[in-house]
Amino acid sequence: MDHFLYRNGVLHAEDVPLTEIAARVGTPFYVYSTATLTRHYHLFTEALSPLPHQVCFAIKSLSNVAVLKVLADLGAGMDVVSQGEYLRAKAAGVPGDKIVFSGVGKTRAEMRLALEGGIRQFNVESEPEMRALSEMASSLGVKAPITIRVNPDVDAKTHEKIATGKKENKFGIPIARALEVYAEAARLPGLQIVGIDVHIGSQLTDLEPFEAAYNKVADLTLALRAAGHQIDRLDLGGGLGIPYTRSNEAPPLPSDYGALIKRTVGHLGCEIEIEPGRLISGNAGLLVSSVIYLKQGEGRDFLILDAAMNDLVRPSMYGAHHDIVPVLEPAAGTEQQDYDVVGPVCETGDTFAKQRSLPPAGPGDLIAFRSAGAYGAVMSSEYNSRPLIPEVLVKGDQFAVIRERPTYDEMLNRDKLPEWL
Ligand code: LLP
Repeated sequence: MDHFLYRNGVLHAEDVPLTEIAARVGTPFYVYSTATLTRHYHLFTEALSPLPHQVCFAIKSLSNVAVLKVLADLGAGMDVVSQGEYLRAKAAGVPGDKIVFSGVGKTRAEMRLALEGGIRQFNVESEPEMRALSEMASSLGVKAPITIRVNPDVDAKTHEKIATGKKENKFGIPIARALEVYAEAARLPGLQIVGIDVHIGSQLTDLEPFEAAYNKVADLTLALRAAGHQIDRLDLGGGLGIPYTRSNEAPPLPSDYGALIKRTVGHLGCEIEIEPGRLISGNAGLLVSSVIYLKQGEGRDFLILDAAMNDLVRPSMYGAHHDIVPVLEPAAGTEQQDYDVVGPVCETGDTFAKQRSLPPAGPGDLIAFRSAGAYGAVMSSEYNSRPLIPEVLVKGDQFAVIRERPTYDEMLNRDKLPEWL
């Protein structure tokens, strides 16, 4: 459920008509709903209660500091994967002891920043990283709290580009080697083992792979404890999928996922940490765009929008489906037509949808892409020298621009001419 509904014939974000935002900020833009973000965050905290738990929002899915602050004010921790994300979490007021640092390639500079600024734990992904972290922590006279990310060799049954838990993927250490790697970690002077980490992929629409992975983590918890390690915390990653269409079967709910967690690892007495991104932010955001032209092609009509693949890359990158809806509600019984929905960028890959059935649309019409809150704005670029588009946050009947559209001067002035040119 989200808070983007038609009222009086106009699609609203909470109590704000999208036509009003479009008139104020121009198109294209991203818009996020505070109520939806809040609701989704609470679905997870409710699903995990009464287990001791911490929900750490995966910043990579939607990293605007205002959005992070909405979640931080509710008590969310953050899962970060870079210096930039760590600094965003801090800028949103998240205390260091609620920030988890994930990622296969943490640099020494990033380790230092987090050790000095405060960290809940590093999710270590390899032995070289573990040794580097121990050295860095020792040089600062502290111990770095760690989990080790294990790769359970489970097929997440999702798009191959976002599956992370198979042995051929670059993530984590093979679970079969975990005892050996934990033994080395325990010997390193700069580390303090606090638990285990696992994350098997994103947009999972079936609970079975989670179950397989979490059962393996439960067994490993017992084995590591038997070997003398203190395992108090399980970071179970993110990855729960969302409905991208209104028609197809809905993926499992956070409550089903919570029940699965309780069933598989709830008896271990560990604090449970999860790192959801998409389920919190995905359906909390829309991309709103205008039609520039309706072009009649050979046997097909093209709706040419002012948004493009540089603004929302998921369709061209993963073949992802986003529902497209008109901002002005069509009259009941309006006949739909098939369109290829495309952007102005100069490559055929700049196609949002092929032969999509939509109510008739033409120049100047506003349309919205649903489920665009996660991996939308964060993956945008300036390809074709198209400035990044604004982000807007709605709360009730208020809205605010939380990232401005840069001016062309700002974009051009980042380029520098060498004095010899
Ligand atoms: N934790 C770790 C270690 C991750 O790598 C990810 C996502 C998450 C948590 C959050 O997963 P989520 O709950 O959002 O599924 N750009 C792709 C998705 C990439 C996901 C990367 N890792 C897309 O647009 O579908």
